[in-house]
Amino acid sequence: MTILVTGGAGYIGAHTTVQLIEQNHDVVIIDNLSHSTIEPLRRIEAITGEMPRFYQGNVQDRQLLQLIFQRHNIEAVIHFAGSKSVGESVADPLAYYHNNIASTLVLCQTMSRFNVFNLVFSSSAAVYGNNASVPVLENMPTQATSPYGRTKLMIEQILEDLHATDSRWSIARLRYFNPIGAHYSGLIGEDPQGLPSNLVPYLSQVAMGSLEQLAVFGDDYDTPDGTGIRDFIHVVDLADAHQKSLHFIAGHPGLHTFNLGTGRGHSVLEMIAAFELASGKTIPYTIHPRREGDIGKSWACAELAKAKLGWQAKRTLQQMLQDAWRWQLQNPEGYEQPLLNQPIPLRMAS
Ligand code: UFG
Repeated sequence: MTILVTGGAGYIGAHTTVQLIEQNHDVVIIDNLSHSTIEPLRRIEAITGEMPRFYQGNVQDRQLLQLIFQRHNIEAVIHFAGSKSVGESVADPLAYYHNNIASTLVLCQTMSRFNVFNLVFSSSAAVYGNNASVPVLENMPTQATSPYGRTKLMIEQILEDLHATDSRWSIARLRYFNPIGAHYSGLIGEDPQGLPSNLVPYLSQVAMGSLEQLAVFGDDYDTPDGTGIRDFIHVVDLADAHQKSLHFIAGHPGLHTFNLGTGRGHSVLEMIAAFELASGKTIPYTIHPRREGDIGKSWACAELAKAKLGWQAKRTLQQMLQDAWRWQLQNPEGYEQPLLNQPIPLRMAS
């Protein structure tokens, strides 16, 4: 199958591209590289032996998108491209609404024009806001609490309307919990630009010594140790779910929504201890007040994805953190360090 991957140079996009290539799909990537560089594509080539076809540009660029659909026999789209920082979205909501929503509209219009109706959309557990009880089920009420989360929710609703008016659309809306980890090779991983805002990239930099200590945001939640609990999922397991979703929507036209998580939660303190084990480093931390907008606990019920997609997260928390640590050690500057200086393993396990 020829698949268009928007945002394919990003964290989840790059891991998914690797799997698609390994499954013999043809991948065409469009990415504006606003939060990335060309380097992940070179790393994808180092892992798979194949350089995906790549167009640098915005998904909102209708002409570019049309050119891609004219040139390639696109059969399905995985739509990752979008801005994803909660804090940034609060500071500049218009940029978030414009970037995330306008690009999806142009994408869907172009798909429809070229009779491509199979779409996998990268959504988020952020659509549940602080409404849901745990474990979180797909049919629980949605209510996003940040402009970022609202863009995801609005896009989900747009896709629902689209499917309601034209049943040729077959759509999977994938609600990610907390993706972490990296490819086993250490060649691709999460590359936060500037100060990381997510827990695991922050822990990695504290373990490296490039940041002094972790601020634990709140120890007075209604959880066993008082710190926040999240459902951390290995990015390679997440990539696997995208590939299975593609197959599923091809055989089951409809509008589908899946939680992607492990079904288990870990607290911030548990994560610190597990990261110490994975890295062999001590992580200094101090307790701070709660971070605004955070919820106490969130973990998925992932049974629907298991039943329908035949997918289940396989990798343990230790694997997630060992892989995150390997990526960090091999790439202390993220993708800034070119591949030439990196050892390339001859054979990689997945
Ligand atoms: N945390 C800290 N210190 C830090 C960073 C995080 O204590 O420096 C805590 C948070 O308070 C939270 C947990 O670690 O309890 C996880 O925080 P992350 O920032 O890693 O992840 P979030 O659950 O806040 O956010 C993630 C994605 C969002 C998405 C959300 C959906 O990053 O994009 O899940 O649930 F919206």
